[in-house]
Amino acid sequence: MCGIVGYVGRQPAAPILIEGLTRLEYRGYDSAGISVAGPHGQTVVRRVGRVRELEAALPKRLAGSVGIGHTRWATHGPATEANAHPHSNADGRVTVVHNGIIDNAAALRTRLAREGVTFTSDTDTEVLAHLVGRSTAPELEDRVLEALDQVVGTYAVAVLDAQSPDRLVVARNGSPLIIGVGEREMFVASDVAALVRHTSSVVHLDDGELAVVTSRGYRTFTSETPDTGREPTTIEVSDEDVELGSHGHYMAKEMAEQPETVARMLRGRLDTRFGTARLDGLNLSPRELRAFRRVKILGCGSAYYVGELGALMIEELARIPAHAEAASEFRYRNPIIEPDTLYVAVSQSGETADTAFAVREIKRKGGQVVGLVNVVGSTIARECDGGIYLHAGPEIAVASTKALTHMGVGFALLALLLGRVRDLSVADGQRVIAGLERLPADIAQVLGQGEAIAEIARELSGADSLFFIGRVRGFPVAREGAQKFKEISYRHAEAYQTSELKHGPLALIEPSRPTVAVIPEDDLTSRNLAAAEQVIARGGRVVAVTHAGVDLGEVGARRIDVPRNEVELDPILLMIPMQLLAYHAAVALGLDIDKPRNLAKSVTVE
Ligand code: F6R
Repeated sequence: MCGIVGYVGRQPAAPILIEGLTRLEYRGYDSAGISVAGPHGQTVVRRVGRVRELEAALPKRLAGSVGIGHTRWATHGPATEANAHPHSNADGRVTVVHNGIIDNAAALRTRLAREGVTFTSDTDTEVLAHLVGRSTAPELEDRVLEALDQVVGTYAVAVLDAQSPDRLVVARNGSPLIIGVGEREMFVASDVAALVRHTSSVVHLDDGELAVVTSRGYRTFTSETPDTGREPTTIEVSDEDVELGSHGHYMAKEMAEQPETVARMLRGRLDTRFGTARLDGLNLSPRELRAFRRVKILGCGSAYYVGELGALMIEELARIPAHAEAASEFRYRNPIIEPDTLYVAVSQSGETADTAFAVREIKRKGGQVVGLVNVVGSTIARECDGGIYLHAGPEIAVASTKALTHMGVGFALLALLLGRVRDLSVADGQRVIAGLERLPADIAQVLGQGEAIAEIARELSGADSLFFIGRVRGFPVAREGAQKFKEISYRHAEAYQTSELKHGPLALIEPSRPTVAVIPEDDLTSRNLAAAEQVIARGGRVVAVTHAGVDLGEVGARRIDVPRNEVELDPILLMIPMQLLAYHAAVALGLDIDKPRNLAKSVTVE
């Protein structure tokens, strides 16, 4: 979704803004723009399309060491140059970039139009530029505060005024905004990826907070408090983490990183002696953990599917009723919040609007919510009462891979802990720990089959429509397999419970519609094999994602074998071939793997 960058310092701002916007490209956008204030006033350049087109359109000499930039994902009005940010007030003195949605934009537009303002775009953001421009308050920060007082909605904004070219004013309400602290220069961004080349010292603004940022420093404030004294924190993300390196795509890089990142995530979190997990960040004592009678997991998209896996792990290891629900649905149905339920929000970005809203709704009603979040300091991470950081490192490709694997591991750790404060034996706890310790090598083994899986993926890429089937633990794996496949290969892919096939979808089986069947070696193997046989008997083709010990016998399917781990952890490994199938199918089709059409990395709007 939209991205913001800002710079104030001693260097020319334009190249720094362009580089920052390039780092945000992965979030998805359809137009981009920058404004730079220099000795001769303010220059605004905007373009539909890629950041490199914007860069090519910049004037040769663009002086000025303060500026703001934006990548826009169209919400109010189509992707045109006029709708691209930055937006300006009537005399062009004030420019504004904005992420989020101003809910009362229509009413404000009508009022401003009545007062004689002419609008040049269809956006909600332009309203803000006019409000700031029309304020008569002496300082830019006061004018921005006055403008935002009239606004209802979510925003991260950065404002530049050619008459105060020593500063930027930024504000946050519901959309992330970070200040990067440098040596006599300061940076602003909606995402750390745009900052890591310059600094690891960052300031996360809170909702309702503003900051005035100059080359010498910053001051954070709210409408009530003139100085909120927010201190910088150090981020662990390095420049290398967001570089593509020798990989063809970020998705390939992120899949390849999994053995190492999973090993890193587990470090210090396994207590082999007592067969349990150390999760101090949850901020829950054993007594509190024991008191929960239910677990409710909330996430969106793939995070929700891994949440379904998590619910099964918790039921199996801790024997507590657990259930996952799409946060995007939960938030709209006036959910009943119970004091003895542990709510778990799961999110890679920590910024997904639907999941963040669900967290707020739970807290408003007095519920206890913990987060399984990847991005440190993100909205969801900060709003939860505690949590488990996923430590997968930055994920740039829109299609999530390593973060999902880490979510699976995070749920295994949570399930282990919840189990061990209940009836799970030390020996069983140690068995799960041994399985977790084997995971990095097991993942590497699956990744090592890349070429064989690529060949199967090439065959699958020729189909217009596919089925992904699995049951119980295999069903969330199938759902995630279908999701990944459709996201980046643009092929129709539908997930079904294997057990439900004969209740309808069998009618659609034919040679041109292959089925990817999850058939682990467990107590349901023979049933899964019988279903695969039915598909083949009706002329269908089957690719089995399975274990080496499973005898496909007469089934006549292609197979991808993953190593057997512990039965509760097997789904984490079964998801890895799903990533590879989707990736190689999209490669075969020559598609834009890291930035699939119509999708954004973090969905910060409803
Ligand atoms: C799928 C995908 C999305 C996200 C979903 C939630 O590959 O990336 O379905 O899983 O938008 O995003 P986060 O985890 O950031 O809350």
